[in-house]
Order: sequence, then C-alpha cells, then structure tokens
Amino acid sequence: MSVISVVGAQWGDEGKGRIVDYLATDADIVIRYQGGDNAGHTVVNDIGKFALHIIPSGIFNENTTSIVGAGTVVNFDTMAKELEAIPEKFWPNLLIDYRAHLIFPFHCLLDGAEEGMRSQSQKVGTTKRGIGPCYSDKATRNGIRAVDILDEENLRTRLTMLLNLKNRELSYYGLQTFTVDEMMGLCAKWKARFGSQIQDTLPIIREAVESGRKILLEGQLGIMRDLDWGIYPYSTSSNPTSGGAVNTSGISPRKLDEVIGVAKAYSTSVGGGPFPTELEDEDGLKLRTIGGEFGATTGRPRRCGWFDAVAADYSCYLNGFTAVAITKLDVLDTFEEIKVCTAYRIDGDIVTQLPETSFQQRAVPIYETFDGWMSDTTNARKWEDLPVNAQKYVRALEKLIGAPVKYISVGPERDQIIVM
Ligand code: GDP
Ligand code: IMO
Ligand code: MG
Repeated sequence: MSVISVVGAQWGDEGKGRIVDYLATDADIVIRYQGGDNAGHTVVNDIGKFALHIIPSGIFNENTTSIVGAGTVVNFDTMAKELEAIPEKFWPNLLIDYRAHLIFPFHCLLDGAEEGMRSQSQKVGTTKRGIGPCYSDKATRNGIRAVDILDEENLRTRLTMLLNLKNRELSYYGLQTFTVDEMMGLCAKWKARFGSQIQDTLPIIREAVESGRKILLEGQLGIMRDLDWGIYPYSTSSNPTSGGAVNTSGISPRKLDEVIGVAKAYSTSVGGGPFPTELEDEDGLKLRTIGGEFGATTGRPRRCGWFDAVAADYSCYLNGFTAVAITKLDVLDTFEEIKVCTAYRIDGDIVTQLPETSFQQRAVPIYETFDGWMSDTTNARKWEDLPVNAQKYVRALEKLIGAPVKYISVGPERDQIIVM
C-alpha cells in the first residue's frame, strides 16, 4: 500500500472529492491537508449525494480514519452542520488534529470587509468563509488552534490577546465586536461537541506510514489558486499542491509514492483573476449548462473555457504527477469540435511555460482543434468503450500534461470511471 496525494491540477473543482471517494474504499486514512470549509467536494455514491466542505471525502468508509489535518482551518459550527447530512455511524471516524487553526465568526466578517475594501480589479472572489483572515492570524502567531480549546486557562489568555487585535479591526470596518466570554462560550460548545475527536494525529499517521498502509492526502482547490504558485493575489491562503500535502499532513516527502493530478477535460474557475481560456460565448454557456458548473459552496456560476495545457504542464512540473485523473470527459460528448490551448501569445511572444499572474492577464490563447466524438460516453467502463476521437483527445491531453492518464471519469457516480 502507499501514500497517495490527490491534487487539483487546475483552478479547483476538478472532481477531487469524486476521485478521493473512489480511491478511499480501501484506504486506511484520508487526510484533508489544507484549506477550510471553502471547499465544495461533491461525492455521489451508494449512500447519497454530498457536498463536503471540511470533512474528508473518505468519511463514507467504516474502516477509514478521516483526518482534518494540521494545515487546515476549521469552523466547528459548519462542521457540525455538515455532519448532520452524513449517517451517524461514520461520525466517530473523524479526527481533527490538535494543530488545525480555528475559524471564528470575526474571521468570516473580516473576510467580507477586506474583500469590500478591494477595488473591482483586485477582488479575489473569496468564499467569505474566513479562510484568509484565519491563516493571517496563524502566520502572525496569534491564531487559536484546536488543541487550545481543551485548556481553558490558556484559551482565555490567547483569546484576550487575539480579540484585542480583532476588535480594533472590526470597529474600523464598523462591524460588531466580540467579548472574550462570548468566544469562551462558543469554544466550550465546540469542546463539548468535538473535544474527544481533537487529537494529536501524528502518531496515528506515523504508524500507518511505517506499516505501509494506504493513506490518501486530499487537497482543497487547485494549483492555480495556490498561495505561492497560483494567481496571487487571486489565490487562497494555503498550498493545495503536493508539496503542501506532505508538509501539512505530517509525512516526509520521501514517503510520498503517488501524486494523482485531477484535471477536468476542460477548464473552470470561480472567483477573480486571469483565466486565459475563458469562453464568454455559446460554447462557454454550453460547458456550464452540461457540466452543471455552479460553485458547490457559493452557488456562483463557474467561468468555463477550453482545456489549458500551458497551465496543466506547469501543474505537472510543480506537483510531480505520477498519474492523472481526467474528469468530466462526458461533458464534451456533444461538441463537434473541442479546443485545447497549447501556448499563449503575450506581448507578441509565443509562451509555453506558464508565467506569473500579471503576464497571464495579457495572455491570448493559441488553440489546437480536435474533432469531437458526438456520442454518449457515460456508460463507458473500459478504454475500448470510448469512441476513437475521445481516445485521441485523452491521449493528446496525456502528452500535453506530461504524465500517464490512469483514471477517466465519465459521470459523477462512483462507478462511472475507467481505470487504465
Ligand atoms: P472538487 O471540488 O474538485 O471535489 O469538485 P466539485 O465537486 O466542486 O465539482 C465537480 C462536479 O462535477 C461535481 O458536481 C461532481 O459531482 C461532478 N463530476 C465529477 N466527475 C464527473 C464526471 O466525470 N462527469 C460529470 N458529468 N460530472 C462529474
Ligand atoms: P474546491 O476545494 C473553486 C476560490 C475563490 C477565490 C479564491 C480564494 O471545491 O476546489 P477563499 O475562500 O479561499 O478566500 O477564496 O479561491 N476558491 C475556490 N474555487 N473551488 C473551491 O474549492 C474554492 N475555494 C476557494 O473563488 O477566488
Ligand atoms: Mg469544489
């Protein structure tokens, strides 16, 4: 067995939840390693249809431990709501690492206020789940971690310090302020609900790694919204890449066996920032309609476009894909022609290596056109079941991405997949 990192190869919403759900049926541990409840990971299986926000997509397996890892930011109120939709027998499988940082109501308020201050062109399009402000407090060493709510005296000291700072910011924006006692009360409620599930998960992870068990590392978002390598400042506040995965899961980079890049057969993005292959025409609308491209967390329509191989090549290099999962191939079933961006024209130059954000803003895509297959692929379960033109398209993507395609998803259900 092995340690497998499942990463978003594009701008997020690639189908990571769907792939993790498929791979988790025989996993010992699934770790959500970064991000918070800004995620919307859709899982459709025998138990039902779920949009998971902070809970790992392995939760539906009785023999799998689902860990909300050290690098995450956790809103216990939304976690409690999310659990209500999940059968109770799975709840005890959920653990939250001591080191996860906690999202308080003031983080969500400040997320909205800070976005409001940004000029139109600078808007991140944040989900307003408090992710950025919570990670900011982590970076300045003022954050409150899950372990802190288990020690009342320490918690009061840290909350007093943090609220001194936050209340000043809240007042500046004309927002409500919070008392230490109010937040102590909230933490007491969280402790009563989740206290026994807040643990040092490292010994569990280490034991599993050293015994060679199957561990899945589930990323939130795609590389293009990574804090360091994404389209900063239109990024999230953590690292969804495979490097981020090992760092925040508590696993040595040398123990990572596989990196599976999850890539949609076309492109989508929610939020601000450059998106060179965006289609604001009938094809874009058709991709959105057939693909059901609306945000799983915010319901916002996703921006849609053709597959961007410049971004995918960059993603493969930085993440080190050992394999690729192509999702939503079926969404292209009724397109007579399908385009793939193989290079950009930027200020008169032809560029094939993804440049920094400001250059992407000026990138004009150069496309290669493929013939569509104009037939239904949703019942394909083997490579041979795919129409020849679909096979050609997948092989072309494989070559452009630079890693072997191991999974092809042709529908949202767990079994709508071809394993190569
Ligand atoms: P994630 O955030 O990366 O987990 O992806 P989302 O769940 O936000 O978005 C993927 C959407 O596509 C969800 O609605 C899935 O149910 C759906 N989906 C996943 N794989 C496929 C597929 O192969 N075909 C189709 N038609 N839908 C899919
Ligand atoms: P999954 O995990 C798509 C986008 C937001 C915004 C930027 C920062 O389902 O792929 P944040 O809330 O982190 O401050 O937002 O990232 N974003 C997502 N886009 N899917 C998501 O999650 C996203 N989570 C955040 O639109 O541009
Ligand atoms: Mg999503």
